[in-house]
Amino acid sequence: MANVYEVAARFYDVLSGERVVYRAGRESGVALLRVRQGDTVLDLACGTGLNFALLVDAVGPSGTVIGLDRSPAMLEMARRRVQLNGWTSVRLVEADATAFDPIVVVNELPAAAEGFVDCIFSSYAMSIFNDWHPAWDRARALLRPGGRACIVDMQLPVGVYRLFSPLVRLAVAIGGADLKARPWTIIEREGVDVRSVAVRGGHIRVVAGTIP
Ligand SMILES: C[S@@+](CC[C@H](N)C(=O)[O-])C[C@H]1O[C@@H](n2cnc3c(N)ncnc32)[C@H](O)[C@@H]1O
Repeated sequence: MANVYEVAARFYDVLSGERVVYRAGRESGVALLRVRQGDTVLDLACGTGLNFALLVDAVGPSGTVIGLDRSPAMLEMARRRVQLNGWTSVRLVEADATAFDPIVVVNELPAAAEGFVDCIFSSYAMSIFNDWHPAWDRARALLRPGGRACIVDMQLPVGVYRLFSPLVRLAVAIGGADLKARPWTIIEREGVDVRSVAVRGGHIRVVAGTIP
């Protein structure tokens, strides 16, 4: 189902409901991640790079953002965004998040990072993976002890916003997501100092924490 991203990469930014719905989640997520200037951040399944502006700003000129995605077409859009904005701190890696060799990320890290990233960020992606557990294990192996992680993903809206559930179900079916995946639970289980918010009627769940 991830092939939809190969076919629709060019239109993703326009058709994905970014302005009305999903930007709110990435903004909350980057805020909760508490990135520091100089940090290295792994953006797991970065897509067209819609998180990059926030992350590049957060890590500052001495930091590094590594965007990993398995779709060459989505990465091409990300590459264009990076070039257009002149972001020299962004590196792009084409790999399957559930099966990548960590060395492909390590190779992109500055020497001072000593083979670790300071933060993991993943938005609207882990619920699309066939199984997000191996992706988490791989990303976590790259995270320095005491690093921060944030997962932004989708669930059905709650309260009066349940009215929008049919729309949500349609959108996630097109995108290939599994609303039962709930990948943020790994941070709730493994993290300390865990912070979470739900935005857009509870549809978007944002969970961040420190991973010991
Ligand atoms: C809905 S998009 C989200 C992109 C981006 N994180 C965002 O917030 O806009 C899902 C992305 O996950 C990527 N993806 C799906 N399965 C993947 C996998 N196994 N490994 C790496 N990327 C994957 C797709 O190529 C696509 O770019």
